[in-house]
Amino acid sequence: MARMIGSLLLLCGLQLVVGDVCPDDVEVDLCDTNPGEFSGSMGMTPNLTLLLIVLAFALPGRAKSWALLLPAVVLPSAVAGLSCGDVKEFYKTNQCCGSATMKELGTYPGAPTCPYNFQKPACSMAGPQTPRDLTANAPGDKVPKAITLTDTQANSLPLVNVHFHLGAEHKSEAYSDGTDSDAFDAGRRLATTGTVRPGWMCPTSSLNSTQLQAYTFQYCKGQVEVGKSYEIHYVHSSAGMDANDTDDVNADSLSDGLGGAANGRGLLNPMIVVQGQIFQIVNGAATVDDMLHGWTVVGHTDSVMYSGSTTGTSHDNSVCSPYAITWHVDKACHQVSPESFDNLCKQMKEMYGMDSDLYPHGSRILVDKQYVVKSEFVVPLS
Ligand SMILES: *[C@@H]1O[C@H](CO)[C@@H](O)[C@H](O)[C@H]1NC(C)=O
Ligand SMILES: *[C@@H]1O[C@H](CO)[C@@H](O)[C@H](O)[C@H]1NC(C)=O
Ligand SMILES: *[C@@H]1O[C@H](CO)[C@@H](O)[C@H](O)[C@H]1NC(C)=O
Repeated sequence: MARMIGSLLLLCGLQLVVGDVCPDDVEVDLCDTNPGEFSGSMGMTPNLTLLLIVLAFALPGRAKSWALLLPAVVLPSAVAGLSCGDVKEFYKTNQCCGSATMKELGTYPGAPTCPYNFQKPACSMAGPQTPRDLTANAPGDKVPKAITLTDTQANSLPLVNVHFHLGAEHKSEAYSDGTDSDAFDAGRRLATTGTVRPGWMCPTSSLNSTQLQAYTFQYCKGQVEVGKSYEIHYVHSSAGMDANDTDDVNADSLSDGLGGAANGRGLLNPMIVVQGQIFQIVNGAATVDDMLHGWTVVGHTDSVMYSGSTTGTSHDNSVCSPYAITWHVDKACHQVSPESFDNLCKQMKEMYGMDSDLYPHGSRILVDKQYVVKSEFVVPLS
């Protein structure tokens, strides 16, 4: 989410740049003890644009990129009514005076208040997470507070995004080979291994050299290879919109990423269902004509549903996802020809102009049992 405008870090000890009208010597002008000089509203507006730009370059890593976005977003409301006295008061109350070291502070004066906290929750506070271990009787501790949506309900939600992960994020009896993920986690990346974290793989032991022969993909990018398995996610969201906004749920408008799912049409609390299906790319395997428009093109008779969250490698067992999402996951491995898989990427690119989702996403580490639902809440899809 790029909409995090609630807090900007100001730094003590940083030269405040406030243009001609405001004092520019921090220690002398902002920290003097004469209460009359700059207190109260003097109707002077510091050059906050400059201030924010300077701050943006002084800030570390992540905060910097947000701050660079801030002037345009924040200034119109922030500058109005902000006086030098406010800045001085802020500097003082945050005990910057006399502090030579850089110190991170909270919200700057005049900042708009944001009704939402977009910080990702600690797992101890978060709702039930995904991916869950789906092997029989795998334990979990959580009782879901959100209802799990059914297959019929999922089908009333427009498809907003399709993407795939290298390896399965979930684990089932059929996809349980952790050789690649173990190697990745141990830092033993193979020469052929890319940068994304692999998940669980379908077995390759019964495949012969013809079936495993390399294929040159024309449309899929990054680590898409014969023999590897991919968990495709079909994301359905009530915030979705069809191409011509006709309210026809079958006329989907797909795009890269999850922006359409989580904040489409301005909705902040959409209902989301993700259908997950695992495909192993094998030469000579079945041709599937349209893998893009849902998992209906191959059977998914061995599927379960449960309450979870978003996945991906920005979440693990300490930083959790803030979203409550229904999961429908097929526990079988489906073999598919490389041509069919490449055709999925071709459709994504040519029909919807997608690009970043032509690369496989990394797989989130299987979530610890204390952050996933109890096994009684993982039920056959209905
Ligand atoms: C504030 O500083 C910015 C950046 O230097 C400049 O573009 C802008 O004109 C200044 N505004 C005022 C009111 O001086
Ligand atoms: C590999 O397996 C496929 C499918 O069973 C078979 O058609 C093919 O002849 C086999 N190739 C070799 C070299 O064994
Ligand atoms: C959107 O409208 C155009 C023009 O009427 C039509 O060609 C296209 O098929 C429609 N797309 C969908 C997804 O309904």
